[in-house]
Amino acid sequence: MQTVHTLDVLRKQIANLRDAGKGRPATIALVPTMGALHEGHLTLVRRAREHCDHVVTSIFVNPTQFGPNEDLDAYPRDLESDAALLERDGCTVLWAPSVSEMYPQGPANFVTNLTIKGISEGLCGAARPGHFDGVLTVVCKLFNQVRPDMAFFGEKDWQQLALIRTMTRDLDLVQPPAEAVIGVATVRESDGLAMSSRNRYLSREDRTKAGNLPRLMKQAIAAIEAGGNVADTLGTLETELVAAGFASVDYAVLADAATLAPLARLNGQAARLLVAARIGSARLIDNMAVGT
Ligand code: PAF
Repeated sequence: MQTVHTLDVLRKQIANLRDAGKGRPATIALVPTMGALHEGHLTLVRRAREHCDHVVTSIFVNPTQFGPNEDLDAYPRDLESDAALLERDGCTVLWAPSVSEMYPQGPANFVTNLTIKGISEGLCGAARPGHFDGVLTVVCKLFNQVRPDMAFFGEKDWQQLALIRTMTRDLDLVQPPAEAVIGVATVRESDGLAMSSRNRYLSREDRTKAGNLPRLMKQAIAAIEAGGNVADTLGTLETELVAAGFASVDYAVLADAATLAPLARLNGQAARLLVAARIGSARLIDNMAVGT
C-alpha cells in the first residue's frame, strides 16, 4: 500500500494503477473516511476489494463539515495505526491529504458549496446547519480527485448516503449511480451499538447505557410493525431513551427510506427509523429498516 499526501502524486499513482490492468484498465473503488478506523470502515474496504481491482481509501478530517462548536479539534486521528489496518485488509492507496492540500485557499475561504434541497434539511441537517454542504463538497472533490468506478459508504449515516446518491446521480459523478454507490450495512458491537469513531468519547458508564439505543429502537420498530400508532411509539421511544441515561434526543423519526420524508404510518414503502441522541459528550446516530 502506498500512502499519498499530494494530489499530483495521487493522480500519477491512479493512472499507473489503471494502466497496469490486465487487458483492460484496472477498476478502482473509493472508500472515503475521516480515519479513526474501526470494523465498520474495514468492512467497506473489504467489500470494495471484492468489486474492484484496487481500493483507494481517503482519510481526511474535513473541517468544512464541522460546526463552530463541534469536535473538529478533538476528532480522533491516528494515521499510523489506520494505515496498518488498511494495508492488512487489501487497500492499495491511502489518500491522506493535509487541509492545505485539500483547501489551498484555506477552508474558511473556500467559496464553492454544494447544497441539496429537501433531503438535507431535516434530521441531522436541522441539528447541524451546513454539515451536509461540507460533506457533499468534500465527497465531490474526492470523486473528482480519484475518479473511482465505485464508492462505498456505511448505511449508519443513512441521510449522508441518500444525499451522496442524489449528488452522484445529479452531477454524473459515477455511472450508473445506482450500482456505483454502494451502501454497506451498519457493523455493530455485541450489544448492538452501531460502530462509530465517536464511540471513543463515551465513558465506561455511558458506553454501557448507549447499548439501550439499538435495543429501544428495535422495541419501537416491533411496536410500529405490530400496528401501533407511530407518533405515540416515537414519543415513548424518546421518553425511554432519556430514562435509560441519554441526556436528550435530537430526533426519533419514521421516514421514507429514499426521500427521508417523515411518515405517520407504514404504507408498504421502504421505511427507516432514524434516531440521534446525546449521551455524555457524544451525539449518537442510528437507523434501522422498518416493515421489511
Ligand atoms: O462519513 C464520513 O466519515 C464523512 O462524512 C465523509 C463521507 C468521509 C466525508 O468527510
